[in-house]
Amino acid sequence: MKATAIAHPNIALIKYWGKRDITLNLPAVGSISMTLSGLYTKASVKFRPEASSDLLILNGEPASKSQTQRVSLFFDLFRDAVGISDRVEIVSVNNFPTAAGLASSASAFAAMTVAADAALKLKMPPSRLSEMARHGSGSAARSIFGGFVQMHLGQREDGTDSVAEPIAPADYWDIRLLIVITDEKKKEIGSTAGMEHSRETSPYYASWLATSPGDILEMRQIIADKDFEKLGELAEHSCLKMHSLTLTSRPPILYWNGTTFEVMNAVVAMRKQGIPAWFTIDAGPQVKILCRPEDMERIEEELIVIPGVKHIIRTQPGNGAAVLQDTV
Ligand code: DP6
Repeated sequence: MKATAIAHPNIALIKYWGKRDITLNLPAVGSISMTLSGLYTKASVKFRPEASSDLLILNGEPASKSQTQRVSLFFDLFRDAVGISDRVEIVSVNNFPTAAGLASSASAFAAMTVAADAALKLKMPPSRLSEMARHGSGSAARSIFGGFVQMHLGQREDGTDSVAEPIAPADYWDIRLLIVITDEKKKEIGSTAGMEHSRETSPYYASWLATSPGDILEMRQIIADKDFEKLGELAEHSCLKMHSLTLTSRPPILYWNGTTFEVMNAVVAMRKQGIPAWFTIDAGPQVKILCRPEDMERIEEELIVIPGVKHIIRTQPGNGAAVLQDTV
Protein backbone atom coordinates (compact mmCIF):
# COMPACT_ATOMS: atom_id res chain seq x y z
CA MET A 1 0.00 0.00 0.00
CA LYS A 2 3.01 2.26 -0.50
CA ALA A 3 4.88 3.53 -3.56
CA THR A 4 7.03 6.41 -4.80
CA ALA A 5 6.97 7.97 -8.26
CA ILE A 6 8.76 10.71 -10.14
CA ALA A 7 7.22 13.07 -12.70
CA HIS A 8 8.47 16.11 -14.58
CA PRO A 9 6.67 19.38 -15.26
CA ASN A 10 5.85 20.28 -18.84
CA ILE A 11 5.75 23.45 -20.88
CA ALA A 12 2.67 24.05 -22.99
CA LEU A 13 3.57 24.97 -26.57
CA ILE A 14 -0.16 25.38 -27.26
CA LYS A 15 -1.71 26.60 -24.02
CA TYR A 16 -4.61 25.28 -22.00
CA TRP A 17 -6.69 28.09 -20.47
CA GLY A 18 -10.36 27.63 -19.62
CA LYS A 19 -12.56 24.71 -18.57
CA ARG A 20 -15.76 23.36 -20.02
CA ASP A 21 -16.60 21.46 -16.82
CA ILE A 22 -15.13 22.47 -13.50
CA THR A 23 -16.28 19.41 -11.52
CA LEU A 24 -14.62 16.88 -13.83
CA ASN A 25 -11.88 19.39 -14.69
CA LEU A 26 -12.46 19.15 -18.43
CA PRO A 27 -10.52 21.63 -20.56
CA ALA A 28 -12.29 23.98 -22.96
CA VAL A 29 -9.41 23.65 -25.44
CA GLY A 30 -6.86 21.00 -26.37
CA SER A 31 -3.17 21.68 -25.72
CA ILE A 32 0.30 20.49 -26.75
CA SER A 33 3.29 20.32 -24.44
CA MET A 34 6.87 19.23 -24.01
CA THR A 35 7.75 17.34 -20.82
CA LEU A 36 10.89 18.79 -19.19
CA SER A 37 13.92 16.91 -17.92
CA GLY A 38 15.89 18.11 -14.89
CA LEU A 39 12.94 19.45 -12.92
CA TYR A 40 10.88 16.93 -10.98
CA THR A 41 8.45 16.07 -8.24
CA LYS A 42 9.02 12.87 -6.27
CA ALA A 43 5.92 11.75 -4.41
CA SER A 44 5.57 8.90 -1.90
CA VAL A 45 2.05 7.70 -1.27
CA LYS A 46 1.09 5.45 1.63
CA PHE A 47 -2.46 4.28 2.33
CA ARG A 48 -3.00 4.00 6.11
CA PRO A 49 -6.15 2.18 7.29
CA GLU A 50 -5.49 3.27 10.89
CA ALA A 51 -5.23 7.03 10.19
CA SER A 52 -8.19 9.39 10.66
CA SER A 53 -7.22 12.06 8.12
CA ASP A 54 -5.12 12.57 5.01
CA LEU A 55 -1.68 14.08 5.51
CA LEU A 56 0.29 15.98 2.88
CA ILE A 57 3.91 16.96 3.46
CA LEU A 58 5.15 19.36 0.77
CA ASN A 59 8.88 20.02 0.59
CA GLY A 60 9.34 18.94 4.21
CA GLU A 61 6.47 21.04 5.68
CA PRO A 62 2.85 20.10 6.39
CA ALA A 63 0.77 21.55 3.53
CA SER A 64 -1.94 24.19 4.02
CA LYS A 65 -5.55 23.19 4.67
CA SER A 66 -6.64 24.11 1.13
CA GLN A 67 -3.76 22.21 -0.48
CA THR A 68 -4.53 19.14 1.66
CA GLN A 69 -8.23 19.40 0.78
CA ARG A 70 -7.47 19.50 -2.97
CA VAL A 71 -5.29 16.40 -2.63
CA SER A 72 -7.90 14.63 -0.43
CA LEU A 73 -10.55 15.10 -3.10
CA PHE A 74 -8.11 13.76 -5.67
CA PHE A 75 -7.40 10.62 -3.60
CA ASP A 76 -11.16 10.09 -3.15
CA LEU A 77 -11.14 9.10 -6.85
CA PHE A 78 -8.70 6.27 -6.12
CA ARG A 79 -10.53 5.27 -2.93
CA ASP A 80 -13.82 5.15 -4.84
CA ALA A 81 -12.24 3.18 -7.69
CA VAL A 82 -11.04 0.49 -5.25
CA GLY A 83 -13.84 0.73 -2.69
CA ILE A 84 -11.66 1.58 0.30
CA SER A 85 -11.75 4.45 2.77
CA ASP A 86 -8.10 4.34 3.96
CA ARG A 87 -6.57 7.73 4.61
CA VAL A 88 -3.38 8.54 2.77
CA GLU A 89 -0.02 10.05 3.67
CA ILE A 90 1.76 11.85 0.85
CA VAL A 91 5.31 13.12 0.98
CA SER A 92 6.02 15.29 -2.04
CA VAL A 93 9.29 17.02 -2.89
CA ASN A 94 9.99 19.39 -5.79
CA ASN A 95 13.48 20.37 -6.93
CA PHE A 96 12.16 23.72 -8.23
CA PRO A 97 10.08 26.63 -6.82
CA THR A 98 6.47 25.67 -6.04
CA ALA A 99 3.59 27.70 -7.50
CA ALA A 100 5.71 30.30 -9.30
CA GLY A 101 4.35 29.53 -12.76
CA LEU A 102 6.56 26.49 -13.16
CA ALA A 103 3.70 24.00 -13.36
CA SER A 104 4.44 22.31 -10.05
CA SER A 105 0.85 21.02 -9.97
CA ALA A 106 1.49 19.15 -13.23
CA SER A 107 4.45 17.14 -11.96
CA ALA A 108 2.92 16.75 -8.46
CA PHE A 109 -0.40 15.28 -9.60
CA ALA A 110 1.27 13.13 -12.27
CA ALA A 111 3.67 11.71 -9.64
CA MET A 112 0.85 11.16 -7.12
CA THR A 113 -1.27 9.39 -9.76
CA VAL A 114 1.48 6.97 -10.73
CA ALA A 115 2.43 6.37 -7.07
CA ALA A 116 -1.21 5.76 -6.05
CA ASP A 117 -1.71 3.36 -8.97
CA ALA A 118 1.39 1.40 -7.91
CA ALA A 119 0.54 1.47 -4.18
CA LEU A 120 -2.93 0.04 -4.90
CA LYS A 121 -1.58 -2.35 -7.59
CA LEU A 122 -4.19 -1.09 -10.06
CA LYS A 123 -1.99 -1.28 -13.19
CA MET A 124 -4.10 1.33 -14.99
CA PRO A 125 -3.27 1.86 -18.68
CA PRO A 126 -1.44 5.14 -19.46
CA SER A 127 -4.53 6.90 -20.84
CA ARG A 128 -6.45 6.08 -17.66
CA LEU A 129 -3.54 7.41 -15.57
CA SER A 130 -3.71 10.58 -17.65
CA GLU A 131 -7.45 10.86 -17.00
CA MET A 132 -6.91 10.43 -13.24
CA ALA A 133 -4.11 13.03 -13.24
CA ARG A 134 -6.38 15.47 -15.13
CA HIS A 135 -8.79 15.48 -12.19
CA GLY A 136 -5.94 16.80 -10.03
CA SER A 137 -4.75 19.40 -12.55
CA GLY A 138 -5.37 19.70 -16.29
CA SER A 139 -1.70 20.07 -17.16
CA ALA A 140 -0.85 16.98 -15.04
CA ALA A 141 -2.61 14.79 -17.61
CA ARG A 142 0.23 15.67 -20.03
CA SER A 143 3.07 14.96 -17.56
CA ILE A 144 2.16 11.26 -17.47
CA PHE A 145 3.95 11.06 -20.84
CA GLY A 146 7.44 12.10 -21.93
CA GLY A 147 8.57 14.13 -24.93
CA PHE A 148 5.93 15.90 -27.02
CA VAL A 149 2.37 15.38 -25.83
CA GLN A 150 -1.13 16.33 -26.97
CA MET A 151 -3.98 16.82 -24.52
CA HIS A 152 -7.24 16.02 -26.24
CA LEU A 153 -10.24 18.22 -25.70
CA GLY A 154 -12.51 15.15 -25.79
CA GLN A 155 -16.21 14.95 -26.60
CA ARG A 156 -17.72 12.76 -23.91
CA GLU A 157 -19.54 14.30 -21.01
CA ASP A 158 -17.90 11.96 -18.49
CA GLY A 159 -14.44 13.14 -19.61
CA THR A 160 -13.07 9.66 -20.36
CA ASP A 161 -11.69 10.90 -23.71
CA SER A 162 -10.27 14.11 -22.24
CA VAL A 163 -6.84 12.58 -21.89
CA ALA A 164 -3.30 13.18 -23.10
CA GLU A 165 -1.51 11.13 -25.74
CA PRO A 166 2.20 11.03 -26.60
CA ILE A 167 3.15 12.51 -30.00
CA ALA A 168 6.90 11.81 -30.00
CA PRO A 169 9.39 10.62 -27.33
CA ALA A 170 11.93 12.83 -25.53
CA ASP A 171 14.82 11.92 -27.86
CA TYR A 172 12.80 12.75 -31.02
CA TRP A 173 13.95 16.38 -31.20
CA ASP A 174 16.86 18.00 -29.37
CA ILE A 175 15.54 21.46 -28.56
CA ARG A 176 16.10 23.41 -25.35
CA LEU A 177 14.01 25.44 -22.96
CA LEU A 178 15.67 28.00 -20.70
CA ILE A 179 13.58 29.00 -17.68
CA VAL A 180 14.39 32.55 -16.68
CA ILE A 181 13.39 33.06 -13.05
CA THR A 182 12.34 36.62 -12.28
CA ASP A 183 10.50 36.03 -8.97
CA GLU A 184 10.28 32.99 -6.67
CA LYS A 185 7.25 34.06 -4.63
CA LYS A 186 4.02 32.10 -4.76
CA LYS A 187 1.70 33.54 -7.39
CA GLU A 188 -1.37 35.42 -6.16
CA ILE A 189 -3.96 34.02 -8.56
CA GLY A 190 -3.63 30.34 -9.38
CA SER A 191 -4.43 28.93 -12.82
CA THR A 192 -7.78 27.46 -11.79
CA ALA A 193 -9.15 30.78 -10.50
CA GLY A 194 -7.47 32.74 -13.29
CA MET A 195 -8.96 30.69 -16.11
CA GLU A 196 -12.45 30.72 -14.62
CA HIS A 197 -12.24 34.49 -14.31
CA SER A 198 -11.13 34.81 -17.96
CA ARG A 199 -13.95 32.53 -19.11
CA GLU A 200 -16.49 34.67 -17.27
CA THR A 201 -15.20 38.14 -18.15
CA SER A 202 -12.80 38.31 -21.11
CA PRO A 203 -14.43 39.49 -24.36
CA TYR A 204 -11.80 37.48 -26.24
CA TYR A 205 -12.76 34.12 -24.75
CA ALA A 206 -14.97 33.12 -27.70
CA SER A 207 -12.18 33.74 -30.24
CA TRP A 208 -9.74 31.84 -28.01
CA LEU A 209 -12.01 28.79 -28.30
CA ALA A 210 -12.62 29.33 -32.01
CA THR A 211 -8.93 29.53 -32.98
CA SER A 212 -7.76 26.64 -30.80
CA PRO A 213 -8.34 23.65 -33.15
CA GLY A 214 -6.30 25.37 -35.90
CA ASP A 215 -3.41 25.95 -33.51
CA ILE A 216 -3.42 22.30 -32.46
CA LEU A 217 -3.37 21.04 -36.06
CA GLU A 218 -0.61 23.47 -37.00
CA MET A 219 1.59 22.52 -34.04
CA ARG A 220 1.17 18.79 -34.76
CA GLN A 221 2.39 19.41 -38.32
CA ILE A 222 5.31 21.56 -37.07
CA ILE A 223 6.42 18.79 -34.70
CA ALA A 224 6.12 16.20 -37.50
CA ASP A 225 8.28 18.47 -39.73
CA LYS A 226 10.72 19.43 -36.92
CA ASP A 227 10.46 23.04 -38.06
CA PHE A 228 12.01 24.95 -35.16
CA GLU A 229 11.28 28.49 -36.41
CA LYS A 230 7.61 27.70 -36.85
CA LEU A 231 7.48 25.96 -33.46
CA GLY A 232 8.84 29.05 -31.72
CA GLU A 233 6.59 31.44 -33.61
CA LEU A 234 3.41 29.49 -32.90
CA ALA A 235 4.29 28.77 -29.23
CA GLU A 236 4.90 32.50 -28.66
CA HIS A 237 1.61 33.33 -30.39
CA SER A 238 -0.36 30.83 -28.27
CA CYS A 239 1.24 32.26 -25.11
CA LEU A 240 0.36 35.85 -26.04
CA LYS A 241 -3.16 34.82 -26.98
CA MET A 242 -3.60 33.19 -23.57
CA HIS A 243 -2.22 36.27 -21.80
CA SER A 244 -4.57 38.46 -23.84
CA LEU A 245 -7.36 36.65 -21.99
CA THR A 246 -5.87 37.39 -18.56
CA LEU A 247 -5.14 41.02 -19.47
CA THR A 248 -8.67 41.60 -20.78
CA SER A 249 -10.42 39.93 -17.82
CA ARG A 250 -12.27 42.30 -15.51
CA PRO A 251 -10.58 43.06 -13.17
CA PRO A 252 -7.42 42.15 -15.12
CA ILE A 253 -4.91 39.53 -14.04
CA LEU A 254 -1.32 40.66 -14.51
CA TYR A 255 1.02 37.69 -14.22
CA TRP A 256 4.08 39.59 -15.52
CA ASN A 257 6.52 41.91 -13.78
CA GLY A 258 8.92 44.46 -15.24
CA THR A 259 11.69 41.91 -15.64
CA THR A 260 9.32 39.59 -17.50
CA PHE A 261 8.91 42.39 -20.06
CA GLU A 262 12.64 43.08 -20.24
CA VAL A 263 13.31 39.42 -21.01
CA MET A 264 10.57 39.34 -23.68
CA ASN A 265 12.08 42.43 -25.31
CA ALA A 266 15.57 40.92 -25.17
CA VAL A 267 14.33 37.77 -26.93
CA VAL A 268 12.74 39.83 -29.71
CA ALA A 269 15.98 41.85 -30.03
CA MET A 270 18.04 38.64 -30.29
CA ARG A 271 15.81 37.44 -33.10
CA LYS A 272 16.52 40.67 -34.96
CA GLN A 273 20.22 39.79 -34.67
CA GLY A 274 19.51 36.42 -36.23
CA ILE A 275 19.43 34.25 -33.07
CA PRO A 276 16.43 31.91 -33.25
CA ALA A 277 14.79 32.21 -29.80
CA TRP A 278 11.14 32.52 -28.78
CA PHE A 279 9.48 33.03 -25.39
CA THR A 280 6.53 31.42 -23.71
CA ILE A 281 5.04 32.32 -20.31
CA ASP A 282 2.54 30.54 -18.06
CA ALA A 283 0.47 31.85 -15.14
CA GLY A 284 3.43 33.55 -13.49
CA PRO A 285 6.30 35.96 -14.14
CA GLN A 286 8.98 33.49 -15.32
CA VAL A 287 9.91 33.52 -18.99
CA LYS A 288 10.69 30.29 -20.79
CA ILE A 289 12.88 30.53 -23.88
CA LEU A 290 12.73 27.97 -26.67
CA CYS A 291 16.07 27.66 -28.46
CA ARG A 292 18.45 25.31 -30.24
CA PRO A 293 21.23 23.59 -28.24
CA GLU A 294 23.98 25.47 -30.13
CA ASP A 295 22.52 28.90 -29.22
CA MET A 296 21.76 28.18 -25.56
CA GLU A 297 24.93 29.59 -23.95
CA ARG A 298 24.87 32.78 -25.98
CA ILE A 299 21.22 33.40 -25.10
CA GLU A 300 21.89 32.68 -21.43
CA GLU A 301 24.76 35.21 -21.42
CA GLU A 302 22.49 37.91 -22.87
CA LEU A 303 19.68 37.26 -20.39
CA ILE A 304 21.51 36.68 -17.09
CA VAL A 305 22.76 40.30 -17.06
CA ILE A 306 19.23 41.78 -17.22
CA PRO A 307 18.50 43.41 -13.83
CA GLY A 308 15.89 41.35 -11.95
CA VAL A 309 16.83 38.03 -13.53
CA LYS A 310 17.50 35.72 -10.55
CA HIS A 311 18.77 32.64 -12.33
CA ILE A 312 18.28 30.50 -15.41
CA ILE A 313 17.44 26.80 -15.46
CA ARG A 314 18.34 24.69 -18.51
CA THR A 315 15.90 22.01 -19.60
CA GLN A 316 15.20 19.81 -22.60
CA PRO A 317 12.61 17.18 -23.52
CA GLY A 318 12.23 14.71 -20.65
CA ASN A 319 10.57 11.40 -19.80
CA GLY A 320 7.13 10.51 -18.56
CA ALA A 321 6.12 9.73 -14.98
CA ALA A 322 7.55 6.53 -13.49
CA VAL A 323 7.56 4.45 -10.31
CA LEU A 324 10.76 4.62 -8.25
CA GLN A 325 12.13 1.89 -6.06
CA ASP A 326 13.39 4.19 -3.30
CA THR A 327 11.24 6.45 -1.13
CA VAL A 328 11.46 10.24 -0.74
C1 DP6 B 1 -0.93 28.54 -18.06
O1 DP6 B 1 -3.17 22.71 -15.23
O2 DP6 B 1 -2.49 24.43 -13.52
O3 DP6 B 1 0.17 26.56 -17.39
O4 DP6 B 1 -6.43 22.30 -14.36
O5 DP6 B 1 -6.96 24.28 -12.96
O6 DP6 B 1 -5.09 22.76 -12.29
P1 DP6 B 1 -5.89 23.35 -13.44
O7 DP6 B 1 -4.90 24.28 -14.25
P2 DP6 B 1 -3.37 24.05 -14.65
O8 DP6 B 1 -3.26 25.17 -15.81
C2 DP6 B 1 -2.15 25.31 -16.60
C3 DP6 B 1 -2.23 26.60 -17.33
C4 DP6 B 1 -0.98 27.02 -18.05
C5 DP6 B 1 -1.01 26.57 -19.50
C6 DP6 B 1 -0.75 25.09 -19.74
O9 DP6 B 1 0.05 24.48 -19.00
O10 DP6 B 1 -1.33 24.57 -20.71
